[in-house]
Amino acid sequence: MAKFWCSLWIITILQLSQLAISRPERVPTPPLPVLPLPTFSQLKWQQRELIMFLHFGVNTFTDSEWGTGKENPAIFNPVGLNANQWVTAAAEAGISLMILTAKHHDGFCLWPSKYTDHSVASSPWKNGHGDVVQEFVTAVKAHGGIDAGLYLSPWDRHDQRYGHDLQYNEYYLAQLQELLNKYGRVKEIWFDGAKGKNAKNMSYYFTDWFAMVRELQSSINIFSDAGPDVRWVGNEQGVAGNTSWSTINSTSLSIGNASIIDYLNTGDPKGTNWLPAECDVSIRKGWFWHKSQSPKKLSELLEIYYNSVGRNCVMLLNVPPNSTGLISEADVQRLKEFRSAIDTIFSTNLAEKCFIKASSQRGGKGGGFGPENALDSDHLWTYWAPRDDGDKKEHWIEMGVPNGGLTFNVVRIQEAIGLGQRIIRHEIYVDGKKLVEGTTVGYKRLHRLDEVHGRDVRIIIKESRGLPLISSVGLHFDPYWNPN
Ligand SMILES: *[C@@H]1O[C@H](CO)[C@@H](O)[C@H](O)[C@H]1NC(C)=O
Ligand SMILES: *[C@@H]1O[C@H](CO)[C@@H](O)[C@H](O)[C@H]1NC(C)=O
Ligand SMILES: *[C@@H]1O[C@H](CO)[C@@H](O)[C@H](O)[C@H]1NC(C)=O
Ligand SMILES: *[C@@H]1O[C@H](CO)[C@@H](O)[C@H](O)[C@H]1NC(C)=O
Ligand SMILES: *[C@@H]1O[C@H](CO)[C@@H](O)[C@H](O)[C@H]1NC(C)=O
Repeated sequence: MAKFWCSLWIITILQLSQLAISRPERVPTPPLPVLPLPTFSQLKWQQRELIMFLHFGVNTFTDSEWGTGKENPAIFNPVGLNANQWVTAAAEAGISLMILTAKHHDGFCLWPSKYTDHSVASSPWKNGHGDVVQEFVTAVKAHGGIDAGLYLSPWDRHDQRYGHDLQYNEYYLAQLQELLNKYGRVKEIWFDGAKGKNAKNMSYYFTDWFAMVRELQSSINIFSDAGPDVRWVGNEQGVAGNTSWSTINSTSLSIGNASIIDYLNTGDPKGTNWLPAECDVSIRKGWFWHKSQSPKKLSELLEIYYNSVGRNCVMLLNVPPNSTGLISEADVQRLKEFRSAIDTIFSTNLAEKCFIKASSQRGGKGGGFGPENALDSDHLWTYWAPRDDGDKKEHWIEMGVPNGGLTFNVVRIQEAIGLGQRIIRHEIYVDGKKLVEGTTVGYKRLHRLDEVHGRDVRIIIKESRGLPLISSVGLHFDPYWNPN
């Protein structure tokens, strides 16, 4: 009986307390996404921003870019090879993914493939017992925080099976299985559509290859002209379109087709596939190491950075190991300078000193979608969202200081791409004067301007697919930028 009275009391107290506390407002929910959306692995890839390519092989020893396939494996002898040095150079440059050419067009394999003797196994390096791919993945794993990627050239100028569709595709798939089975986790695999002039009628069985990749590696991104996860930007200068959509129609793409280059460069606002672009470029003139070449100037690398990372893409910077098997000191130094410059420019956000306001906000004040979200450290999942005003197409967000002013020459805008890429057109006004007319934003848009001094910076979204969602804004000063 005592138990019964006790329970009754508890129930009564609970009911009373529910009456006393006024019913809380519903917490505003995030808006619906605008499709298509990135996959988990595509989002991770996008956030890497800067990744590294390493072209290494027989060409490193012959001063050439495209080997003939007739190279004698005896020339491959990188006596000082130390993959840890490669990884350290990458880590110091803030790079989190490194892609090695396991095989280039010359057909020489950097691992001891059991399907050919045209490999490290026939070289004097480590008396034929070496495995560059193994040393590479071991160094990457030992470092932690860096991931491995591989390139396996479809074009093979050495193997006799090349040009015979069935035999060669079986050979290629066999090598793909070796690479994706034996070397642990691979985060990106790189395919191109290059073909020998003597074998233009050779078909690559991409559908079979991609299916095999998916089967063997769960969180990998497949790169090719046409994706399916990451697309080529359409040039080897590392330059994305001024308008740069991560969306595109896969059905309009084919691998190794020159007539789609412009489409790849800009993407498609109506595209039904999420297929962001990767901008490949070499730190030197060539892709392979040549004694006569030296790294690009810092200003050139920064220009490429603004035109790739600053245009909603990932920059894939090639840094070729030399014939000793090390990344040359000049390149190591340039990479350090590059990282240090990026940090100098972006580690200070002048907008953090500003008040920030917006044309409206979803769910009203305290609803969780205010413009202050654009100044926090989360560049994806906290964002400013305007109120849904139906027909109203224009929205703005403004940063300002009450006194004095700010001196800057870079404006950074980032969209919450986890809910789709939305912004079609935007403008930037400083103290009421229009300084920028821009188009897409995407994951990150960087506008480099002549030095500006002003108090109020307003970003107006003129047109978007659904409501614009801004995850981050920044005002920065780039001391390396001299427009004249
Ligand atoms: C091209 O295809 C034809 C017919 O399938 C074949 O006979 C020929 O050998 C191929 N050419 C080359 C260079 O592989
Ligand atoms: C190349 O792309 C264009 C444009 O999408 C298409 O019309 C053409 O059929 C493609 N060519 C090949 C060989 O796939
Ligand atoms: C891409 O596909 C969408 C939907 O089918 C279509 O509206 C759009 O016109 C296509 N883009 C191009 C360039 O064909
Ligand atoms: C390769 O780079 C390393 C590190 O800078 C250097 O010690 C070595 O001499 C270079 N090798 C060649 C062939 O230039
Ligand atoms: C980029 O496009 C905008 C208009 O959308 C234009 O004002 C600007 O000059 C373009 N920049 C380049 C480098 O083409």
